[in-house]
Amino acid sequence: MRIKELLSQMTLAEKIGQMSQVNGGSWNLHQGIREGKVGSVINEVNVETVNELQRVAMEESRLGIPLLIGRDVIHGFKTIFPIPLGQAASWNPKLIKEGARIAAVEASSAGVNWTFAPMIDITRDPRWGRIAESLGEDPYLCGELGAAMVAGFQGDELNGKGAIAACAKHLAGYGAVESGMDYNTVNIPENELRNVYLRPFKKALDAGVATFMSSFSDLNGVPASANEFLMKQVLRKEWDFKGFVVSDWESIKELSVHGFTANDKESALAAVNVGIDMEMASRTYTDHMGALLDEGKVQLQQIDDMVLNILKLKFQLGLFENPYTNPSEFPRLVNAQHLQAAKASAQESCVLLKNDRQTLPLSKQHLNSLAVIGPLADDGYEQMGTWGFDGVSRHSHTCLQALHAQLGDEVEVRWARGIETSRSKNQDEFAQAVQIAQQSDAVLMFVGEESILSGEAHCRADIDLPGHQAELIEQVAATGKPIVLVVLAGRPLTLGRVIDKVDAVLYAWHPGTMAGPAIAELLFGVESPSGKLPVSFPRAVGQIPIYYAKKNTGRPPSHDNITHIDEIDGNAVQTSLGMSSFHLDAGFTPLFPFGFGLSYSQFEYTDIKLSNSHISLGDTLHIYATLRNVGAVEAQEVVQLYIRDLVGNVTRPVKELKGFQKIRLKPGQDQTVNFSLHTDELAFFNQKMQELTEPGDFHVWIGGSSDTELRSEFTIGVDE
Ligand code: BGC
Repeated sequence: MRIKELLSQMTLAEKIGQMSQVNGGSWNLHQGIREGKVGSVINEVNVETVNELQRVAMEESRLGIPLLIGRDVIHGFKTIFPIPLGQAASWNPKLIKEGARIAAVEASSAGVNWTFAPMIDITRDPRWGRIAESLGEDPYLCGELGAAMVAGFQGDELNGKGAIAACAKHLAGYGAVESGMDYNTVNIPENELRNVYLRPFKKALDAGVATFMSSFSDLNGVPASANEFLMKQVLRKEWDFKGFVVSDWESIKELSVHGFTANDKESALAAVNVGIDMEMASRTYTDHMGALLDEGKVQLQQIDDMVLNILKLKFQLGLFENPYTNPSEFPRLVNAQHLQAAKASAQESCVLLKNDRQTLPLSKQHLNSLAVIGPLADDGYEQMGTWGFDGVSRHSHTCLQALHAQLGDEVEVRWARGIETSRSKNQDEFAQAVQIAQQSDAVLMFVGEESILSGEAHCRADIDLPGHQAELIEQVAATGKPIVLVVLAGRPLTLGRVIDKVDAVLYAWHPGTMAGPAIAELLFGVESPSGKLPVSFPRAVGQIPIYYAKKNTGRPPSHDNITHIDEIDGNAVQTSLGMSSFHLDAGFTPLFPFGFGLSYSQFEYTDIKLSNSHISLGDTLHIYATLRNVGAVEAQEVVQLYIRDLVGNVTRPVKELKGFQKIRLKPGQDQTVNFSLHTDELAFFNQKMQELTEPGDFHVWIGGSSDTELRSEFTIGVDE
């Protein structure tokens, strides 16, 4: 077959070349490609340059092997979609797939054929800046949405027009870095690793993801890029992955910085030995592989296997036949259809967290004037979010622009930034903001974080609104005007200080290019918010990690057995406070739970029913409930299915998401929702690391949030 034939003609240097990814623009790229020393280029997105690099590879290198052109196309290319955490809040795999599809088509038109997405690291720590790039805290949701992204990027066939290879990253555990500080140490017991952190990666594999990326961090003492358990035992042996693994940026070289190896040569050896097929950015393979082979530490067969993995993808992508890109064969960048999809995605990603006295939606008829305040109301750059890499702020539609466009001269819009940036502590502009609030019927405040405050290496220890934004909100609130807070941020923020000062809160994450039109329509009720939180919102940083799928503990807290610090009597005795699992000052619940999100309508759940309350292993259970729109407007609702396995060989979470559906209903309309659950979907890894479904008793819930109480029960019987 062609790949093997090609391999048989390759020199060792050419093989090592295929295993090397080089940063565009650095180094003597053309010469390196000509000599067959480069298998992939990262960060080159000028299509003429990319075509020229491909031409050198095809025509001037000895064997004419095309290049993989890699780029972080994470939430859009030129048309920027919401940050992945925002997209996850849509709970809409179809929209997410379409977003990835559009990103892939736009990136393909620049010659990119490989993206480093989806990032499917589970994280339960909003201090970690990369939570923005994640799909949240839950393995099921993250797995489903990650698979949708893979399908969108890769299309039906990898060699189809506009398809690019996806990369599931970062294997594994990176989202559990200690103290939510990037690149930090990770310790996860194997059982939890398998039951939580690895699950989305397995789903990405099942969705056909072409590549995986090893993470920067160490896991239980072994850096991922040299982690035999992850890369060999799990990925290759148990999962039988046939594609290729790329290291993260210089993460092979950094093995010695971790103190896992003594030098670059040992690092190259350690990474090759666990099957990291391609080295990103650093050059330990190039510099040391020859010597390692000469010394018999690495066998030629290992190298051949890795090169085959890489060449296979190049064939699958059709690069040997079509290495060049003609942008005119692609739809125009940032075209109307792409913008429409980005708007839909931004709209469905917004989560309504609070809406006292139905402050929202605003009504043009009842408003004469509106004050728009805040550093993020009119900033096309900051609304794009962390990987707005290739986005251009001039394409952005800001909230202020959209409000003007939507309201025309029907409502007078007054605008004051109020504070220069989200981080500013200068209050000079406060007075002007307070003044326009006083003059207006209602106030919209666009607060949060700039893009730079989340994303890689941008972690925070304090996740309150930064700068003096809370002070600004307090001063504006003192006017007594109705206040709607729209938060643009890359993570859940602790909102305790401001939440009671405002009437409504719409959490918009970083919504991307189309933030303005998406949000303006929500604020004025053209569409109802339908997003639900993909991650719990803590009351205080000290609660982190806080997540709904917690364990019960031997001393579960309840509202009856906890005491608040303000209620403690003088000379209280040690045992007087309720000996359960809670914080004296923050209780045990999040500010907003996973799965939560309000609507302009109201949904009622009733009549949970099961097809059978006694089933056997191998059966499929059907779970039904009636969902009714009892509010006044048409809206979408995310219906969520949770289970609890009451007794396990290892303790099981108090709730686990097992399904969800997004349903649109008109006022008064109802629908029977139907979930099916095969007993295999209840399997978990036990103490012996066997993945099994255990017979026994289960609870099952259907509702609009993880704190739903509409419950039924079933039993999986033991076969006689
Ligand atoms: C990040 C990866 C990214 C890579 C390439 C690294 O710093 O951790 O997620 O894909 O850079 O840009």
